[in-house]
Amino acid sequence: MNKMKLIGPFKQIIPMTGLSLKGAISDSQLNIIEDGGIIVENGKIKAIGNFDDLAKRSEGIEIHELKGNHTCLPGLIDSHTHICFGGSRAKDYAMRNAGKTYLEIAKAGGGIWDTVTQTRKATKEELIKRTTKLANRHLKNGVTTIEVKSGYGLSVDEELKMLHAIKETNSAVSADLISTCLAAHMLPKDYNGSHEQYLGEIGEKLFPILKEKGLANRIDAFVEESAFSAEQIAPYFEKAKAMGFDITVHADQFSTSGSQVAIDFDAVSADHLEASTPKEVELLANSKVIATALPGASIGLGCDFTPARKILDAGGALAIASDHNPGSAPMGDLLTQASILGTFEKLSNAEVLAGITFRAAAALNLSDRGQLAKGYTGDFIGFHTDNYQEILYNQGNFKPCMVWKNGELVFDKHKAP
Ligand code: NIG
Ligand code: FE
Repeated sequence: MNKMKLIGPFKQIIPMTGLSLKGAISDSQLNIIEDGGIIVENGKIKAIGNFDDLAKRSEGIEIHELKGNHTCLPGLIDSHTHICFGGSRAKDYAMRNAGKTYLEIAKAGGGIWDTVTQTRKATKEELIKRTTKLANRHLKNGVTTIEVKSGYGLSVDEELKMLHAIKETNSAVSADLISTCLAAHMLPKDYNGSHEQYLGEIGEKLFPILKEKGLANRIDAFVEESAFSAEQIAPYFEKAKAMGFDITVHADQFSTSGSQVAIDFDAVSADHLEASTPKEVELLANSKVIATALPGASIGLGCDFTPARKILDAGGALAIASDHNPGSAPMGDLLTQASILGTFEKLSNAEVLAGITFRAAAALNLSDRGQLAKGYTGDFIGFHTDNYQEILYNQGNFKPCMVWKNGELVFDKHKAP
């Protein structure tokens, strides 16, 4: 636990407060604290406001004084990743760009099943090493909370190996890792039974262990023709809900039906939505489900972006996540991807920043982060600029120079090797 200190002055602090969870936001609605400071104590924000006022009010307080111009944002939140995996799918990427179809790539040994095979071959320690490296890269890029899915194990034991690896990585890195069980990623090719039998077995054998060992609070499924249908997934989600898990869905990536499933099961989020039509946009906008765009998957696969503008204009809540995975989204740079989505979908700076801060926190059912205000977690990042607009303008090629997690400076570019 850290003792009280005042950090600043920041030329601008964009606290992302006072903005609605749903619908369009214009940049003029952004609250900007000029020449601001933040007081942190025991990992939380104790006060935020004008730096000189805070310094006067708290005489004798330890001051972490910043030189030069800095702009401060809440720590970024990536609400959808698959950064625990074995091997590489560089071959898939090359084949896809050479015009090969999904089926041809799968036949040549590629696709999700290839990563399952390589992840099963990896030891838990190897998975921890990989996940640590990727989580630390994310942290340096300003991402202080990272959701991480299983889903490349696809058996009770192999899913447990992944989820233990994620839990152990979480204790070893500065970022918070939020784990999600994605045992329903696809029907494993070596499973001797139907989709229903596989899901039944996972629900019966794996779900109780997740609860007992605190390995995951969230259950995800890939609702898609090549994975699980709406009918197949219904009893699985019913069971998960009855046991108190949060639900999230890989929805409408190639064909629709997933977003309706997300709504039917009060999911916290429906992610992907590249194939959503005006009907699904309307359904999502009129629900409590956070619609999550994954521009990294559109860039990785070379396909359409999620209709983010339409979702916001219809009144929906839009989060933006990286989907970082070895297959469809190998880049894993949230700020770059969110900036690019902004240019293609005509999103305001405020909408993009909301998508990777407080709206992403809502997608993870976390109410203690994503905004900078008294009582919130002391997660914030500093950029070397006096104007927040420079951040997205550089389309991801302008990274934070400082990252604070729970009020502690965990990355300082000025001191980095
Ligand atoms: O979110 N769509 C399904 N699952 C992942 C892809 C995983 C993979 O290709 O390995 C996704 O894009
Ligand atoms: Fe995904």
